Amino acid sequence: MKIAGLSLAALLLGALSFTAPAAQASSLYQDLGEQRGIELLMEEMLFNIADDRRIRHHFVETDMAHLHQMLSEQICELAGGPCVYSGEEMVESHTGLDISRGDFNALVEALQLAMDDNDIPVGVQNRLLALLAPMHHEIVNL
Ligand code: HEM
Repeated sequence: MKIAGLSLAALLLGALSFTAPAAQASSLYQDLGEQRGIELLMEEMLFNIADDRRIRHHFVETDMAHLHQMLSEQICELAGGPCVYSGEEMVESHTGLDISRGDFNALVEALQLAMDDNDIPVGVQNRLLALLAPMHHEIVNL
């Protein structure tokens, strides 16, 4: 029993030494440049959307300053930052907007372009995209 106890302790210690570096690793929030970095990314993404003929028509009646504020809060919260998203649920805000899978992909491209332009490493980009990808069920409605 003693041996079993010892090996359990060793196992726990081993597990701790494995998890410690992960706990110290920077959060996605930090890797995106914290609140200011995320605000800049969202601003640039919205400019890219405005330049994109495939999807810009969706936003002609949108209050872009408000959308920028909501996106910045949402991404900050999703990335583990200290923000609290105060906007609508995704289904609620996108119902009736006739958003296709292609539209969704175009928006993701606009975000990727913004991240590339801000020298966000691909690994960090992928961590953010992995959080957004599952939302397509709530947003795509065509
Ligand atoms: C992961 C992808 C997306 C995320 C995270 C997202 C997030 C958001 C957020 C946070 C809002 C603001 C909600 C509020 O006002 O409370 C919003 C609104 C909006 N989104 Fe998205 N969205 C996504 C994809 C798309 C796509 C693909 C389109 C169209 C091409 C789109 C078009 C819009 C429009 C037009 C509004 C404003 C609606 C209004 O004026 O009330 N979104 N979205």
